[in-house]
Amino acid sequence: MTSATSSAVAPKPSAGKSRTTKPKSSKKKKGWRTAADSDIHELYELSVQEPEAECDLIDQVWKEQHNRKCKSIREDFCGTAAVCMEWVKRRKTNTAIGVDLHQPVLDWGAKRMPFRLNKDQMSRVTLLTEDVRTVQTERVDSVLAMNFSYSIFDTRPDMLRYFKHVYEGVVDDGMFLLDVYGGSDSYLEMEEERDLDGFTYVWDQHHYNPITGRAVNHIHFRFPDGTKIKKAFTYEWRLWTIPELRELLTEAGFKKVVVYWEGTDEETEEGNGEWSVSEAGEACPGWIAYVVAIK
Ligand SMILES: C[S@@+](CC[C@H](N)C(=O)[O-])C[C@H]1O[C@@H](n2cnc3c(N)ncnc32)[C@H](O)[C@@H]1O
Repeated sequence: MTSATSSAVAPKPSAGKSRTTKPKSSKKKKGWRTAADSDIHELYELSVQEPEAECDLIDQVWKEQHNRKCKSIREDFCGTAAVCMEWVKRRKTNTAIGVDLHQPVLDWGAKRMPFRLNKDQMSRVTLLTEDVRTVQTERVDSVLAMNFSYSIFDTRPDMLRYFKHVYEGVVDDGMFLLDVYGGSDSYLEMEEERDLDGFTYVWDQHHYNPITGRAVNHIHFRFPDGTKIKKAFTYEWRLWTIPELRELLTEAGFKKVVVYWEGTDEETEEGNGEWSVSEAGEACPGWIAYVVAIK
Protein backbone atom coordinates (compact mmCIF):
# COMPACT_ATOMS: atom_id res chain seq x y z
CA MET A 1 0.00 0.00 0.00
CA THR A 2 1.42 3.35 -0.94
CA SER A 3 0.11 6.85 -0.91
CA ALA A 4 1.65 9.97 -2.30
CA THR A 5 -0.41 12.01 0.11
CA SER A 6 0.52 9.99 3.12
CA SER A 7 1.64 12.11 5.97
CA ALA A 8 2.14 12.27 9.67
CA VAL A 9 0.18 10.00 11.95
CA ALA A 10 -1.79 11.91 14.52
CA PRO A 11 -3.94 10.72 17.38
CA LYS A 12 -6.35 9.44 15.91
CA PRO A 13 -5.63 10.74 12.45
CA SER A 14 -8.19 8.48 11.00
CA ALA A 15 -9.30 4.97 11.15
CA GLY A 16 -5.97 4.03 9.76
CA LYS A 17 -3.19 3.88 7.37
CA SER A 18 -2.02 6.67 5.17
CA ARG A 19 -5.27 8.50 5.41
CA THR A 20 -4.64 12.01 6.57
CA THR A 21 -8.20 12.95 7.38
CA LYS A 22 -10.82 11.39 9.54
CA PRO A 23 -13.78 10.00 7.65
CA LYS A 24 -15.88 12.92 8.74
CA SER A 25 -17.08 15.88 6.76
CA SER A 26 -14.28 18.34 6.31
CA LYS A 27 -16.40 20.93 4.52
CA LYS A 28 -16.42 24.29 6.17
CA LYS A 29 -19.99 24.95 7.27
CA LYS A 30 -21.74 27.78 9.00
CA GLY A 31 -20.47 28.69 12.43
CA TRP A 32 -16.79 29.21 11.83
CA ARG A 33 -14.97 29.39 15.10
CA THR A 34 -12.35 31.65 16.62
CA ALA A 35 -9.75 30.90 19.26
CA ALA A 36 -11.66 33.03 21.77
CA ASP A 37 -14.94 31.15 21.46
CA SER A 38 -13.47 27.64 21.25
CA ASP A 39 -13.12 24.96 23.85
CA ILE A 40 -10.04 22.76 23.42
CA HIS A 41 -11.73 19.62 24.71
CA GLU A 42 -14.56 20.02 22.24
CA LEU A 43 -12.07 20.61 19.42
CA TYR A 44 -10.09 17.56 20.55
CA GLU A 45 -13.18 15.34 20.44
CA LEU A 46 -14.11 16.68 17.00
CA SER A 47 -10.58 16.24 15.66
CA VAL A 48 -9.31 12.94 16.93
CA GLN A 49 -11.99 10.85 18.53
CA GLU A 50 -14.31 8.29 16.99
CA PRO A 51 -16.06 6.61 19.92
CA GLU A 52 -18.55 4.77 17.70
CA ALA A 53 -15.78 3.17 15.67
CA GLU A 54 -13.90 2.22 18.84
CA CYS A 55 -17.00 0.58 20.34
CA ASP A 56 -17.65 -1.22 17.03
CA LEU A 57 -14.15 -2.61 17.25
CA ILE A 58 -14.67 -3.86 20.82
CA ASP A 59 -17.82 -5.68 19.68
CA GLN A 60 -16.06 -7.13 16.64
CA VAL A 61 -13.07 -8.34 18.64
CA TRP A 62 -15.23 -9.99 21.30
CA LYS A 63 -17.34 -11.73 18.66
CA GLU A 64 -14.26 -13.01 16.88
CA GLN A 65 -12.16 -13.96 19.88
CA HIS A 66 -14.77 -15.26 22.35
CA ASN A 67 -18.11 -15.26 20.55
CA ARG A 68 -19.72 -13.43 23.41
CA LYS A 69 -20.55 -9.81 24.01
CA CYS A 70 -18.38 -7.55 26.09
CA LYS A 71 -20.39 -5.85 28.82
CA SER A 72 -18.05 -3.93 31.06
CA ILE A 73 -15.20 -1.69 29.98
CA ARG A 74 -12.63 0.40 31.75
CA GLU A 75 -11.41 3.30 29.62
CA ASP A 76 -7.93 4.14 30.90
CA PHE A 77 -6.67 7.69 30.12
CA CYS A 78 -10.34 8.44 29.42
CA GLY A 79 -10.05 12.24 29.12
CA THR A 80 -13.59 13.49 28.42
CA ALA A 81 -14.87 9.87 28.66
CA ALA A 82 -16.35 9.95 25.16
CA VAL A 83 -15.90 6.19 24.72
CA CYS A 84 -17.51 5.40 28.11
CA MET A 85 -20.54 7.43 27.05
CA GLU A 86 -20.85 5.74 23.68
CA TRP A 87 -20.43 2.32 25.31
CA VAL A 88 -23.33 2.66 27.77
CA LYS A 89 -25.57 3.94 24.98
CA ARG A 90 -25.06 0.71 23.02
CA ARG A 91 -26.77 -1.80 25.29
CA LYS A 92 -28.69 -1.58 28.54
CA THR A 93 -26.35 -4.16 30.06
CA ASN A 94 -23.18 -2.19 29.30
CA THR A 95 -21.18 -0.47 32.02
CA ALA A 96 -18.13 1.78 31.81
CA ILE A 97 -15.48 3.06 34.18
CA GLY A 98 -13.39 6.01 33.02
CA VAL A 99 -10.00 6.62 34.64
CA ASP A 100 -7.97 9.80 34.29
CA LEU A 101 -5.79 11.65 36.73
CA HIS A 102 -6.63 15.11 35.42
CA GLN A 103 -9.68 16.34 37.33
CA PRO A 104 -10.56 19.24 34.97
CA VAL A 105 -10.92 16.97 31.94
CA LEU A 106 -13.10 14.55 33.90
CA ASP A 107 -15.19 17.48 35.11
CA TRP A 108 -15.60 18.60 31.51
CA GLY A 109 -16.92 15.17 30.55
CA ALA A 110 -19.14 14.88 33.63
CA LYS A 111 -20.70 18.28 32.98
CA ARG A 112 -21.74 17.25 29.49
CA MET A 113 -22.97 13.80 30.43
CA PRO A 114 -26.57 14.87 31.17
CA PHE A 115 -26.79 16.32 27.64
CA ARG A 116 -25.43 13.16 26.06
CA LEU A 117 -26.97 10.38 28.13
CA ASN A 118 -30.27 9.62 29.81
CA LYS A 119 -30.49 8.85 33.53
CA ASP A 120 -30.23 5.10 33.12
CA GLN A 121 -27.17 5.42 30.86
CA MET A 122 -25.54 7.87 33.26
CA SER A 123 -26.02 5.45 36.15
CA ARG A 124 -23.83 2.95 34.30
CA VAL A 125 -20.81 5.27 33.97
CA THR A 126 -18.29 5.75 36.78
CA LEU A 127 -15.51 8.32 36.46
CA LEU A 128 -12.45 7.97 38.69
CA THR A 129 -9.72 10.52 39.26
CA GLU A 130 -6.94 8.00 39.59
CA ASP A 131 -3.64 6.90 38.13
CA VAL A 132 -4.13 4.00 35.71
CA ARG A 133 -1.10 2.29 37.26
CA THR A 134 -2.69 1.97 40.68
CA VAL A 135 -6.46 2.30 40.21
CA GLN A 136 -8.48 -0.48 41.84
CA THR A 137 -11.84 -1.30 40.29
CA GLU A 138 -14.07 -4.33 39.97
CA ARG A 139 -12.69 -6.57 37.21
CA VAL A 140 -14.01 -5.68 33.78
CA ASP A 141 -14.36 -7.53 30.47
CA SER A 142 -12.14 -5.05 28.61
CA VAL A 143 -9.63 -2.39 29.47
CA LEU A 144 -8.97 0.17 26.72
CA ALA A 145 -5.96 2.46 26.30
CA MET A 146 -6.66 4.51 23.20
CA ASN A 147 -5.10 7.30 21.27
CA PHE A 148 -1.68 5.97 22.22
CA SER A 149 -1.95 7.40 25.74
CA TYR A 150 0.04 4.54 27.30
CA SER A 151 3.09 5.86 25.37
CA ILE A 152 3.81 8.20 28.30
CA PHE A 153 5.31 5.15 30.00
CA ASP A 154 8.72 5.30 28.43
CA THR A 155 10.69 2.48 29.97
CA ARG A 156 10.15 -1.28 29.81
CA PRO A 157 9.75 -1.62 33.60
CA ASP A 158 7.13 1.16 33.73
CA MET A 159 5.17 -0.26 30.81
CA LEU A 160 5.36 -3.78 32.21
CA ARG A 161 4.09 -2.55 35.55
CA TYR A 162 1.12 -0.92 33.83
CA PHE A 163 0.36 -3.97 31.68
CA LYS A 164 0.51 -6.25 34.74
CA HIS A 165 -1.93 -3.97 36.50
CA VAL A 166 -4.30 -4.14 33.52
CA TYR A 167 -3.97 -7.94 33.52
CA GLU A 168 -5.15 -8.02 37.14
CA GLY A 169 -8.02 -5.68 36.25
CA VAL A 170 -9.74 -7.88 33.65
CA VAL A 171 -11.94 -10.96 34.16
CA ASP A 172 -10.66 -14.47 33.42
CA ASP A 173 -11.40 -14.27 29.69
CA GLY A 174 -10.86 -10.49 29.61
CA MET A 175 -9.10 -8.45 26.97
CA PHE A 176 -6.94 -5.35 26.79
CA LEU A 177 -7.25 -3.25 23.62
CA LEU A 178 -4.74 -0.59 22.70
CA ASP A 179 -3.96 1.27 19.53
CA VAL A 180 -0.53 1.91 18.10
CA TYR A 181 0.76 4.06 15.28
CA GLY A 182 3.84 3.80 13.16
CA GLY A 183 5.31 3.91 9.68
CA SER A 184 8.23 5.87 8.30
CA ASP A 185 6.45 9.23 8.68
CA SER A 186 6.00 8.75 12.40
CA TYR A 187 9.74 9.27 12.88
CA LEU A 188 9.78 12.59 11.04
CA GLU A 189 9.55 16.08 12.45
CA MET A 190 6.64 17.42 10.45
CA GLU A 191 3.19 19.02 10.65
CA GLU A 192 -0.06 17.72 9.28
CA GLU A 193 -3.13 19.95 8.87
CA ARG A 194 -6.74 18.93 8.46
CA ASP A 195 -9.59 21.32 7.78
CA LEU A 196 -12.60 20.45 9.92
CA ASP A 197 -15.87 22.23 10.61
CA GLY A 198 -14.86 25.82 11.30
CA PHE A 199 -11.28 25.19 12.33
CA THR A 200 -8.04 23.54 11.28
CA TYR A 201 -6.51 20.75 13.33
CA VAL A 202 -2.70 20.67 13.29
CA TRP A 203 -0.73 17.61 14.36
CA ASP A 204 2.83 18.73 15.01
CA GLN A 205 5.43 16.00 15.31
CA HIS A 206 7.76 18.49 16.84
CA HIS A 207 10.73 16.45 17.92
CA TYR A 208 11.91 12.88 17.67
CA ASN A 209 15.10 11.49 19.15
CA PRO A 210 16.07 8.22 17.49
CA ILE A 211 18.49 7.39 20.27
CA THR A 212 15.92 7.44 23.07
CA GLY A 213 12.91 6.73 20.86
CA ARG A 214 11.14 9.63 22.54
CA ALA A 215 8.99 12.15 20.70
CA VAL A 216 7.35 15.45 21.56
CA ASN A 217 4.09 16.05 19.68
CA HIS A 218 1.68 18.96 19.89
CA ILE A 219 -1.87 19.62 18.77
CA HIS A 220 -2.56 23.19 17.63
CA PHE A 221 -5.81 24.65 16.34
CA ARG A 222 -6.09 27.43 13.74
CA PHE A 223 -9.17 29.41 12.86
CA PRO A 224 -10.46 31.17 9.74
CA ASP A 225 -10.01 34.64 11.31
CA GLY A 226 -6.28 33.98 11.72
CA THR A 227 -6.42 33.29 15.47
CA LYS A 228 -4.71 30.19 16.86
CA ILE A 229 -4.53 28.00 19.91
CA LYS A 230 -0.94 26.84 19.96
CA LYS A 231 0.05 23.73 21.94
CA ALA A 232 -3.51 23.02 23.01
CA PHE A 233 -2.18 19.57 23.90
CA THR A 234 1.38 18.29 24.20
CA TYR A 235 2.43 14.65 24.32
CA GLU A 236 5.82 13.40 25.39
CA TRP A 237 5.85 9.83 24.27
CA ARG A 238 8.13 6.96 23.56
CA LEU A 239 7.29 5.54 20.16
CA TRP A 240 6.82 1.87 20.93
CA THR A 241 6.74 -0.73 18.18
CA ILE A 242 4.20 -3.54 17.87
CA PRO A 243 6.74 -6.30 18.64
CA GLU A 244 7.89 -4.50 21.79
CA LEU A 245 4.30 -4.13 22.98
CA ARG A 246 3.47 -7.76 22.21
CA GLU A 247 6.51 -8.97 24.12
CA LEU A 248 5.62 -6.86 27.14
CA LEU A 249 1.97 -7.94 27.09
CA THR A 250 3.02 -11.58 26.97
CA GLU A 251 5.46 -10.96 29.82
CA ALA A 252 2.62 -9.35 31.79
CA GLY A 253 0.72 -12.65 31.57
CA PHE A 254 -1.65 -12.32 28.60
CA LYS A 255 -1.82 -15.71 26.91
CA LYS A 256 -2.58 -14.50 23.39
CA VAL A 257 -1.74 -11.17 21.77
CA VAL A 258 -3.10 -10.48 18.29
CA VAL A 259 -2.86 -7.52 15.97
CA TYR A 260 -5.81 -6.10 14.05
CA TRP A 261 -4.51 -4.51 10.84
CA GLU A 262 -6.57 -2.34 8.54
CA GLY A 263 -7.66 -3.39 5.07
CA THR A 264 -6.90 -1.28 2.01
CA ASP A 265 -9.38 0.45 -0.25
CA GLU A 266 -8.39 -0.67 -3.72
CA GLU A 267 -9.31 2.60 -5.39
CA THR A 268 -7.73 5.08 -3.00
CA GLU A 269 -5.05 2.71 -1.68
CA GLU A 270 -5.85 4.06 1.76
CA GLY A 271 -7.19 2.37 4.86
CA ASN A 272 -10.78 1.17 4.50
CA GLY A 273 -11.77 1.08 8.16
CA GLU A 274 -12.06 -2.73 8.17
CA TRP A 275 -9.92 -4.53 10.70
CA SER A 276 -8.80 -8.13 10.76
CA VAL A 277 -6.24 -10.22 12.59
CA SER A 278 -2.99 -10.28 10.69
CA GLU A 279 0.63 -11.28 11.07
CA ALA A 280 1.70 -9.37 7.95
CA GLY A 281 1.40 -5.59 7.86
CA GLU A 282 2.59 -3.27 5.12
CA ALA A 283 5.51 -0.87 5.27
CA CYS A 284 3.39 2.18 4.49
CA PRO A 285 4.44 5.67 5.65
CA GLY A 286 1.67 5.96 8.22
CA TRP A 287 -0.49 3.31 9.83
CA ILE A 288 -2.57 2.62 12.89
CA ALA A 289 -3.18 -0.84 14.28
CA TYR A 290 -4.95 -2.31 17.29
CA VAL A 291 -3.19 -4.70 19.62
CA VAL A 292 -5.53 -7.04 21.49
CA ALA A 293 -4.19 -8.91 24.52
CA ILE A 294 -6.32 -11.80 25.74
CA LYS A 295 -6.02 -13.14 29.30
C1 LIG B 1 -4.39 11.75 24.82
S1 LIG B 1 -5.52 11.90 26.19
C2 LIG B 1 -6.54 10.54 25.76
C3 LIG B 1 -7.98 10.84 25.72
C4 LIG B 1 -8.84 9.73 25.18
N1 LIG B 1 -8.61 8.47 25.84
C5 LIG B 1 -8.70 9.52 23.71
O1 LIG B 1 -8.78 8.39 23.23
O2 LIG B 1 -8.55 10.47 22.95
C6 LIG B 1 -4.52 11.31 27.50
C7 LIG B 1 -5.16 11.41 28.88
O3 LIG B 1 -4.39 10.59 29.77
C8 LIG B 1 -4.41 11.18 31.05
N2 LIG B 1 -3.31 10.57 31.83
C9 LIG B 1 -1.98 10.71 31.63
N3 LIG B 1 -1.30 9.95 32.50
C10 LIG B 1 -2.21 9.27 33.24
C11 LIG B 1 -2.12 8.31 34.28
N4 LIG B 1 -0.94 7.86 34.73
N5 LIG B 1 -3.26 7.84 34.82
C12 LIG B 1 -4.46 8.28 34.38
N6 LIG B 1 -4.61 9.18 33.39
C13 LIG B 1 -3.50 9.67 32.82
C14 LIG B 1 -4.29 12.66 30.78
O4 LIG B 1 -4.80 13.41 31.87
C15 LIG B 1 -5.14 12.79 29.51
O5 LIG B 1 -6.47 13.17 29.81
